[in-house]
Amino acid sequence: MKVTVVGAGNVGASCADVISYRGIASEVVLLDIREGFAEGKAMDLMQCATNTGFNTVITGVTNDYAKTANSDVVVITSGIPRKPGMTREELIGINAGIVKSVADNVLTHSPNAIIVVVSNPMDTMTYLTLKATGLPKNRVIGMGGALDSSRFRYYLSKALDKPSNDVSAMVIGGHGDTTMIPLTRLASYNGIPVSQFLSEEELAKVASATMVGGATLTGLLGTSAWYAPGASVAYLVDSILNDQKKMIACSVMLDGEYGQDDICIGVPCIIGKNGVEQILDINLSDSEKEAFAKSADAVRNMNGDLSS
Ligand code: NAI
Repeated sequence: MKVTVVGAGNVGASCADVISYRGIASEVVLLDIREGFAEGKAMDLMQCATNTGFNTVITGVTNDYAKTANSDVVVITSGIPRKPGMTREELIGINAGIVKSVADNVLTHSPNAIIVVVSNPMDTMTYLTLKATGLPKNRVIGMGGALDSSRFRYYLSKALDKPSNDVSAMVIGGHGDTTMIPLTRLASYNGIPVSQFLSEEELAKVASATMVGGATLTGLLGTSAWYAPGASVAYLVDSILNDQKKMIACSVMLDGEYGQDDICIGVPCIIGKNGVEQILDINLSDSEKEAFAKSADAVRNMNGDLSS
């Protein structure tokens, strides 16, 4: 199984790292526009193989799309990351141009690939990729909910003082500080609703911390995070390549689900070898429905900015 990761920067390299350590794919091609950069990252990663015991072959290339031929999955992380004080929305103009040309190039050499979009503003970039390529909607998946949900589980586990892996929780809606919706009502600790352990005030704090989770890290690191984003991409790629049919919140094109049309936004999906195999239209409460509609409006506004 072959995966191409376009953009060998922090998130791209971290994702290649997890894919190889965990043996998710037999081959990973890292591609970047910076001369020699992807080659360097690939070489550094390959020199981990003997000490960590992986067999994945990682190759780095500078803009040579021919080397990405016949990829099963292509991950697009190329773009510029958010700087401190910069919103995801401000990234839109720059990253839109990059994502569009990258999608065209990868499909020339891998016409059957499933595309995972990571570049921000991710919901809009996913929408743009779908529109620009004309691919069926199951083959373009925006990664955001996997990361936001893992951050939600992290903050819940801290509030509960229990391991994250015992906490189940999901974030839907737009992948933005003000648009994401941590579903506190459905969060559970080993099957028990977390509301049995945490007060409404504590849950509200957890939800707020989750929503600014990315910005908190950007403030601390001076650039946006990469370990958890890379691991979240690898988790999604694993479910596709190994047909795991995991339920993962992903940004996908809606066609009536959740009362929305012609928009890519985070909803729970079954992810397998065909990409988005099912969108789960779960019953939301009235307030969750209202939050989802608001989130969709915000994402739609941003999509509109792109065409103006
Ligand atoms: P980075 O700056 O470390 O890496 C980006 C790489 O893309 C650079 O190496 C750059 O040379 C390359 N690049 C730029 N234009 C290119 C092109 N036309 N073709 C090939 N490569 C190109 O940035 P980082 O931290 O890896 O973030 C990448 C993107 O992912 C950003 O847009 C960031 O906002 C987004 N992101 C999204 C997340 C999500 O949950 N969806 C989470 C974290 C980051």
